[in-house]
Order: sequence, then structure tokens, then C-alpha cells
Amino acid sequence: VTVYVKDHWKDDDFFGYQFLNGLNPMVIRRCDTLPDNFPVTDDMISKHSNGPSWLDQEIKCGNIFLCDYKLLDEVKTREIHGKQQYLAAPLVLLYKTADDKLVPIAIQLKQEPGPDNPIFLPTDSSHDWLLAKTFVRSAEFNLHELNFHLLRTHLLAEVFAVSTLRNLPMVHPLYKLLIPHTRYTLHINVLARKVLISENGVLTTVASSGGEGMFKILGDSLSSMTYRSLCIPDDIADRGMENIPNFYYRDDGLKLWNSLHSPQVPLGNYPEEHFTEEEPRRLIQAFQNELMQLSDEIKKRNEKLVVRYEYLDPEKIGNSVTI
Ligand SMILES: [Fe+2]
Repeated sequence: VTVYVKDHWKDDDFFGYQFLNGLNPMVIRRCDTLPDNFPVTDDMISKHSNGPSWLDQEIKCGNIFLCDYKLLDEVKTREIHGKQQYLAAPLVLLYKTADDKLVPIAIQLKQEPGPDNPIFLPTDSSHDWLLAKTFVRSAEFNLHELNFHLLRTHLLAEVFAVSTLRNLPMVHPLYKLLIPHTRYTLHINVLARKVLISENGVLTTVASSGGEGMFKILGDSLSSMTYRSLCIPDDIADRGMENIPNFYYRDDGLKLWNSLHSPQVPLGNYPEEHFTEEEPRRLIQAFQNELMQLSDEIKKRNEKLVVRYEYLDPEKIGNSVTI
């Protein structure tokens, strides 16, 4: 994988692929209408040989996708070693080509359209286009790290961990069910507070959004979070991402989700054996068998891929938020 990335990081189709199967598969959605603040025209996109000719028509066919980083709008950025840092709040328009590649066709780095906010195109000079794509990746890193990683993974898991410990006695079946999934979550979150987001923490000092900006992003992300967006089938449907090809995050994630919902038993391994009764133990065994089967399926699929998608292989998923 690293060799592939080294050779292909500048390629438009690999840039597009990363919105599906890279760091953060959570932002991309099918574009049903072009947002008012992103005035892309047919003239702009039809210049490129890889691009579509008529935007309206391709939108109707479901071939146009949008990544909107509006949560990063008006975030205060910090200085590092006396140098002002910058953070874009980009809009990215992507096109699914006839040969099932996803390629960017327009990038606008700020939310408010205007003369100081050009729409970058693949037909621009290669340096301009690469720089626009780099700003998008930087936005992706900041939003992923704070919203999708810190907030939705670590901090949300902490709410359930604390509530379980405070409200349920150890003999309660829900306690038995939930407690293995809280293993080390409080510990890693204490570390995150101390090492990442404290006054001298890594994120505070090295990320452009570090400090004040970081807390605005966390706050706005929390306000915009919905329960539906935490449930993968709803989230995929709401984003109109049911049919796009090569979306392995969706393919593997939905199978995992369905395993969790086949008769109510949770993911994984239970070395502490909270459940000693026969029926729960039988269900745990059945669930583990199902996960092993999914793991085999994913491994077989990956054999055919140049870049393997291994992140949702049950073998590699932790039972709780610990890292
Ligand atoms: Fe983590």
C-alpha cells in the first residue's frame, strides 16, 4: 500500500478513491442539487477530457458527488513558530466516470463565492490544482481528527462507559453486554486530554486548528451530529451512497452492522466471561463464527484489489475504543 500511495498520491482518481476508502469516508454524499455557494458551470467542467459535459444531466444520473467542509468555516487558526497557519473550508465536486473511477472536477477552498475565491479545475496549472487538492486533504485531516475520531469515537464512547459504570449493577445483563466494549476507553481519553488537546498538546501545537479553533469545530460538530448519522445503513442512505462502486467502507461496514443485529449479541471476544449462562454463551459462539466468516470474505475480496481495504476486517477491529 505505501508503495502504491507513493506512486499515485498526485493522481486524481486516487484523490477521489480516498473519499470512499481513505482516512474519512464520512463526508462524501451524492449531489442532488449544486449548492448555491458553489457556482460550477458546464463551461468549467467540459474543458477536461475526463470530465462530464452537462452537469445537470450527470446530477440526474447520480454521477456527481459532493464533499462540503462547511464545519471548518470561520475557524480561528493558530500561529506556529510565529507563522500564521491556514485552514480551508472547501467544497469538492466529484464525478463518477463511465469506467467507475471517482475524479474531482472542481474545488472551491472557501464557502463564500467571489472574486477572491476561485474555483480550481483539473485544467488549471498542475501546481495550482495540486495545491487545491492539498488544502482539501488538510481540511479532511482536521475534520476527521476532531469530529469523526475524537468526538464520535472517543468522547461518545466515554459517555456510554461512564453511564454504564454509574447506573448498572455488575449482575445486570446490560452491564455484562456493554462493559467489555468500554475497556480502556476512559484511560485512552484521559491520555487524549493530556497529550493531544491540552495547552501544550500535540494537536494544539501542530495542527492549524489547534487551540480555540479546535473547540469551535468540536462544538459545531456536536451540534450537527444526529443519531441517524451514527447508524451506518441510515447514514449511507441519507448520503445517497448506496450504489457507488468500489465503496468498501460501505460494503464491509453494512455486513458488520448486520452481524451485530442478527439475534441482539455484540462484537467479538469476551475473555472475562461475564456471561456464564448457556444461551448467551451459545449466541457469542455463533456471533464469533459469523465474524470469522466475514473476515474470510473480506480477505478473499482483498486478494483481487491493488489497494487492500482491511480496516473493517473483524479480525482487526477492537472490542472497545482503546487507541
Ligand atoms: Fe483513537
